[in-house]
Amino acid sequence: MNEESTNKEDSIAQISRRKFFVKLSLSVAGISAAIAAIPVVSALLAPLLEHPPGQWRTVGKVNDFQLGTTTLVNFIDADPKPYAGVTAKTGAWVRRNEKNDFTAFAINCTHLGCPVRWEKNADLFMCPCHGGVYYADGTVAAGPPPRPLTKYEVRVYNENVQIKTAPIPLTTIGAAKTS
Ligand code: FES
Repeated sequence: MNEESTNKEDSIAQISRRKFFVKLSLSVAGISAAIAAIPVVSALLAPLLEHPPGQWRTVGKVNDFQLGTTTLVNFIDADPKPYAGVTAKTGAWVRRNEKNDFTAFAINCTHLGCPVRWEKNADLFMCPCHGGVYYADGTVAAGPPPRPLTKYEVRVYNENVQIKTAPIPLTTIGAAKTS
């Protein structure tokens, strides 16, 4: 074997080693990047995949509500975020039908989510934004609301009136998606 062919073989071996190390470096970098991306991707996708379970929230004692009346109550929503502050609070209209029988209506109009108010003299829920009107049972009486007021589950537990919180469809945008 002459010197020229030995140099050629050395050169080929060096190139192969260099290629090997380049490929190894790229592979290690790719794997590292994939591992580093897992928590970022998880954080981005988690809110889309989470379905916070309904939480029972106490809104008052049974005797805080008079028979036949409809009362505004406040509670913390189903999935409060640490940064939500006062926006984690929401409201509902609670009616005491019988001794231990209550109905709770979401406060948000089913048109665009404005808070409705109970007008006891008219026996109607009124929306201030676009003139939506609901009967006492939450069904639509007039205006643009596309469906009745959303109702929450209610229970009496240890003399407390509790509402089962849930993410509620606030607007017609949600309705359009689901239909
Ligand atoms: S938001 Fe209530 S009628 Fe439009």
